[in-house]
Amino acid sequence: MASLFTIRHGSLSILDPGAGTGILTAAFCDRVLSTGSPVHLRVEAYENDTAVIPILTKLLGAAAREFKKKESELSFVIHEDDFVTANAHQIKQPDLFGSASTGEKFDYVIANPPYFKIAGESRQARAMDDVVAGQPNIYSLFLALGVSLLKPDGEIVFISPRSFCSGLYFRRFRQWLLSRSTIRQIHSFQSRVGLFEHDSVLQENVIFKLENGVTADSASQPIKVTVSKDKDFSRSDKLHVDRSTIIFEKNGDVFIRVPASLHDLSVIRAVDSWPFTLNGLGFEISTGPVVAFRATEFLSASDQASPKFAPLLWSHNLQGLNVVWPLAKNGKAQSIRIGEPSRTLLLPVKNYVLLKRFTSKEQARRLYAAVLRAAQFPHELVGMENHLNYVYRPHGDMTEDEAYGLAALFNSQLLDDYFRTLNGHTQVNATEIRTMPMPTLSEIVELGKLIRADVRRNVAPSLDVYLENIVANYDRTLAVREARA
Ligand SMILES: C[S@@+](CC[C@H](N)C(=O)[O-])C[C@H]1O[C@@H](n2cnc3c(N)ncnc32)[C@H](O)[C@@H]1O
Repeated sequence: MASLFTIRHGSLSILDPGAGTGILTAAFCDRVLSTGSPVHLRVEAYENDTAVIPILTKLLGAAAREFKKKESELSFVIHEDDFVTANAHQIKQPDLFGSASTGEKFDYVIANPPYFKIAGESRQARAMDDVVAGQPNIYSLFLALGVSLLKPDGEIVFISPRSFCSGLYFRRFRQWLLSRSTIRQIHSFQSRVGLFEHDSVLQENVIFKLENGVTADSASQPIKVTVSKDKDFSRSDKLHVDRSTIIFEKNGDVFIRVPASLHDLSVIRAVDSWPFTLNGLGFEISTGPVVAFRATEFLSASDQASPKFAPLLWSHNLQGLNVVWPLAKNGKAQSIRIGEPSRTLLLPVKNYVLLKRFTSKEQARRLYAAVLRAAQFPHELVGMENHLNYVYRPHGDMTEDEAYGLAALFNSQLLDDYFRTLNGHTQVNATEIRTMPMPTLSEIVELGKLIRADVRRNVAPSLDVYLENIVANYDRTLAVREARA
């Protein structure tokens, strides 16, 4: 992380919010001293865990002595304080407090912020409601304040979960961040094994380097994307990627994509050239309304549907491309009571594409879809549990060809790779699926026909081969368009 900064000479300052024992600042000190030029470095660290303060103090003291030996100087301040509440005024009312307009800002911020959700009504979240919404994760507050505390040409390098790059909860934060800073570099890790083995962090982590401010010039420069395979950063792959490939605007939202290879870039290029989205094709995606623990009074273990009970579908009912019901699993309810009180939890049986909302890291794919065929599901109503998303045609019916075509798209390697550049966690949100580009309806129908023919012949669908044809179509169109441009 320290190696990513552009080191200047003379008088420098760095902020380390949530400094712990000071390891990041120590790496930065090493980096500065390795330039060989005398510097004066001012360090400010925030840490609210009193147990680590003595170590942090000792470390910064040792660093100061090291600087002296090299004809340089290091001064430091340790704030035994809550970084967020001590600085939130920077964002809320920058002109009311002297420190915001006249106080010290920093050339550099280096941060490995804490990660945990805080209550929306907490003092910290309320102080920063211009930047975050709902129940924010504390790391987004640290990052926003880190950016606010930079000098005009200052740089921040941080490591954090990549959840802020997509998803509704971080939308306001993303918009805020991208309007105030410029992404210079994104580093991701191909494999988490061996790197975060002691952490219980469930998400992929990324390192970002941002520069304070957005100018026409900075916004036109490509973003450096690096990927390391293990702890050895020197063996990282490097790419320079167009800003518009990384910062992806769709449906009024903005996302930060993290491609990990040249392959990912060609996937993004191919899928971005598709002209539609689900909505544009007349489909909608929603999340299963049955939250089991809130609906216990309606749920039943019975695996017999009747005028009083409708089938209840969970992720485990998705088997290959099919929906299998009844199917017992871990004593989960199999049906749901039909009646006025449970009316909003039930859906009419139609053709649907069901998509799992959660897949485990071990599963090869993130996107996992199956088809609920009305013709083979002799019930009037069905319950969908909350771990499922379902795609349907709100006005009318989805044909079987359309359903198989869509399910095939979702199950393809191509869309799975595309989805991974957008989303670093194992959760598949309907909002993200809504932003996914789609080919034309006739291409989806054609794909559906091919898949159904394979299913009828009882052969494994040659999904990725069929998709290659669609991709090749768009590649040709793109090539012609680019040649004309
Ligand atoms: C993920 S650790 C990183 C520590 C260190 N920077 C490193 O990389 O090893 C986050 C640190 O932030 C501290 N912390 C958590 N909440 C804080 C807050 N509100 N203000 C200041 N420090 C905080 C924790 O005590 C912890 O030391």
